[in-house]
Parts: sequence; structure tokens; C-alpha cells
Amino acid sequence: MFKVAIAGTGYVGLVSGVCFAEVGHQVTCVDIDEKKVNLMKSGVSPIYESGLEELMQKNNAEGRIDYTTNFQSAYRNADVIFIGVGTPEQPDGSANLSYISTVARQIAESVENDCLVVVKSTVPVGTNDKVEQFIKDFLVNDVRIEVASNPEFLAQGSAVHDTLYAERIIIGTESKWAEDRLREIYEPFHLPIVSVNRRSAEMIKYASNDFLALKISYMNDIANLCELVGADVQDVAEGMSFDERIGSKFLNAGIGFGGSCFPKDTKALDNISRENGYELRTVKAAIDVNKDQKISLYKKASKRLITFNGLKVAVLGLTFKPGTDDLREAPSLANVPLLLEQGADIYAYDPVGASNFSKVYPEGDFDKGTITYVDDIEQALANANVCFIFTEWGEVKAVTPDAYKRLMRTPLVYDGRNIYENYDMREAGVEYHSIGRAS
Ligand code: UGA
Repeated sequence: MFKVAIAGTGYVGLVSGVCFAEVGHQVTCVDIDEKKVNLMKSGVSPIYESGLEELMQKNNAEGRIDYTTNFQSAYRNADVIFIGVGTPEQPDGSANLSYISTVARQIAESVENDCLVVVKSTVPVGTNDKVEQFIKDFLVNDVRIEVASNPEFLAQGSAVHDTLYAERIIIGTESKWAEDRLREIYEPFHLPIVSVNRRSAEMIKYASNDFLALKISYMNDIANLCELVGADVQDVAEGMSFDERIGSKFLNAGIGFGGSCFPKDTKALDNISRENGYELRTVKAAIDVNKDQKISLYKKASKRLITFNGLKVAVLGLTFKPGTDDLREAPSLANVPLLLEQGADIYAYDPVGASNFSKVYPEGDFDKGTITYVDDIEQALANANVCFIFTEWGEVKAVTPDAYKRLMRTPLVYDGRNIYENYDMREAGVEYHSIGRAS
């Protein structure tokens, strides 16, 4: 078993750290935020992720994982250091690598043993070559250091499961020493390992995420055409899914993809291609379709209503998908400002995302509209003139068509997640508009 240090305790870092501890490694998670470190020491997860806290508490209690702000002590004798810090998008679409370079410098100044540095963060192709050189340039002690790429494929909401039962582990290395060490770390997981060179590993991450983003944008594009020609995109997707070459996953048309990954990684790859004098037209198309898709329901509703001014607008779901409190690139963030600008009185419900959302849009009056956060869906729907569904939370799916009719002043529903059957809503007396299906 290895002494593992993890830099960064976001989704990737913390979930990986806890899972490495769970299979028996001795793990130390490093973060600069002392409050967060104390929280984790006491067994509280700073992120909302199913199953994570239980696993943290178990491994905390069994002494296989610890948390610290003291990077020197964590890195000094580590066999392996995983870097899982963020690579946020910059205004030009490129990845901001400042967190990675800070950690690289700290590693160079701390390590006293031979050590494999493994980058889990999503980084532009070729970055890990530079990280390795950077660490070597600043290395204080005479030790062997190599950098490997080990991209992460966990999805928020199922992160622990995705890590423990990953479909594949991609390891990108430049020497047998690095490959063997990384294989050994993953050995207790008993998962398929694909071993490639470092640049291919970096590329696999982008190519995988962008392919999924492309699949969604393709279905959203088809959905928009379905509406025009009178087809139903869900039936179309089902018909397509039986072809194993297409598969059944990520064929759900909706209000566009959000989150911290697809929007960032499509823009990053577009950026990488342009930097290399190439235009990645397919990925560019996925980005363009997604931008329009996020406000497609708003546009439909604007055509149907004279104004939103003074209307009570129920918003169900704020997060970019269910099972997370993450709002990054969520469709709600594209729509709420438009509704407020039009003078809507928004009543928003989200089982876990409301508090984060209220940091961006505090409850109260805006220039024209207002926003109020409510604890239950009934309050949001009561007397509402129109309802928008942005996230398919279980609680939202459980609302019956009759409830819209019973509670709303005018039962007019714009559903960005295709939760209901048209005929059920029609039968209940609800005017229902969804994505890629005739109203
Ligand atoms: C995504 C990938 O699924 C993970 O494999 C990857 O590791 C992760 O990015 C990452 O790079 O870290 P995540 O962003 O957590 O994971 O969420 P997804 O479940 O992939 O959903 C992304 C967005 O696509 C959501 O807004 C979701 O609503 C949307 N989506 C997904 C659709 O609109 N239609 C679908 O059929 C599937």
C-alpha cells in the first residue's frame, strides 16, 4: 500500500482521496482552506455527493485518511501525489493553470523521496510535459520525480460509485517506473486499465467529454427539428438507442448541458484546436447549439405571453442536474436574469441548490422583477401564471399533472427536461410545452 497525498479537495480530489483510503492506501488530502480542512477532519463533506460522507467518516475513524493545510508534511514522504485542483475556464476559453503551477512548485520544494506526481485535473494536451519540467526546474532535493496523466471520469451525483467501479482507468506515462507504480496503486480496484502515453491520456479526457457533449447537442438539434416536422424526439431517441453503435445513454434532449465539465471542456478543446491552426468544427457546433438551447424555452414562452412583467413565475430546479448543489453553467443561470429583466416575480424551488443560487441572486427585489426561494413545490406553483422546469429532481418528477392544474392560476408549463407525457398534461388541462415534442 502507498503513502498518497492529494492536492485539492474538490470533487475530483476529495472523492479520489476517500476512495484510495477505502481500498487501503494511506491518504493525506491537502487544501489551502483551513475551515474546510477542519470540516473534513470532523467527517463533514464540503460537497454534496451521495455516499461520500459515510465513506469519509468510516475512513477517518479507521485512520486511513487525514486532511491538512500543511503541504510540506503531506508531500515530503509521499510515494504518489495526485493533483486534483481546478482548471477554470478563462475568458478566452483556455484553461487557467495557475492552481496546478502553484501545487507543482510546492511539490518541488517539499519532496524528499522518489515520487510520482499524477495529474487528475483536466489539462490541455502537453501540459503535463511542462508540469514535469517545471517541478524538475524547482526541485530542491535530488530525488526521482515523474509526472503521469490520470484523467478522471466521475460524474457529479454518482462520483463515489464512478470512482470505485470506473469503466476504465486511463494512465498516461512516459516510463515503465511510472506505469508500474500507477498500475500498483489501482491494483486493489480491479478495474480495466488502459495504459497510453501522457499526451494521449490528456486527449482521451477531452475527446470523451466532448463526444458526450456533442451527443447531447446533436439530440437537441434533432429535437428542434422534431418540433418543426411533428416528430417526438424521445421516440426518435428510443428508436435510435437499439442500435448498439449508438447506445442508449446521453440521448436525452433537454435545456442544454451545464456543469463544470462539458461547457469548459468543449471550449478548451475548441481553443486548443485553434491554437494549433485547426478548426474543430464538430465541437464548435456543439457549443453553439448548447448556447441557444439553454434559452429555447424562454424564447418559446416569450412568444406565447405578451409579457412576464408582474407574472408569478414558478421555477422548479436550479442546479445543472439532479443530485448536486452545483450551479456552474446551469440553464437556470441563463434564464433567471432574462425573466428578472422582464419584470417576472420568480418563486424558485430547488431541494439543495437554492442557497447557492441566492448567493448570486439574493432573495428580494431587482430592478424590475423579484425572486423568492420557497421550501416546497406547492408554494412555488400556488397561483403561478407560468412554470419553468430546469432540473429533473425526483421531487419535481413526482408532481402530478393535476397539481399544476389545481395550484396554478394559469396551468402553463415549460418543461426543459421532458418529464411528462403530452397527453397526460393535456388530459389534466395543462398547457404543456417541452423539448422536441409537439405541444
Ligand atoms: C461529466 C461526465 O459525464 C463525466 O464522465 C466526467 O468525468 C465529468 O463530466 C468531468 O469531466 O469531470 P458531469 O458534468 O458531472 O459529468 O455531469 P453529466 O451527468 O455528464 O451531465 C452534464 C450535463 O449534461 C447536465 O447538465 C445534464 O443535464 C446534461 N445531459 C446529460 C443532457 O442534457 N442529456 C443527457 O442525455 C445527459
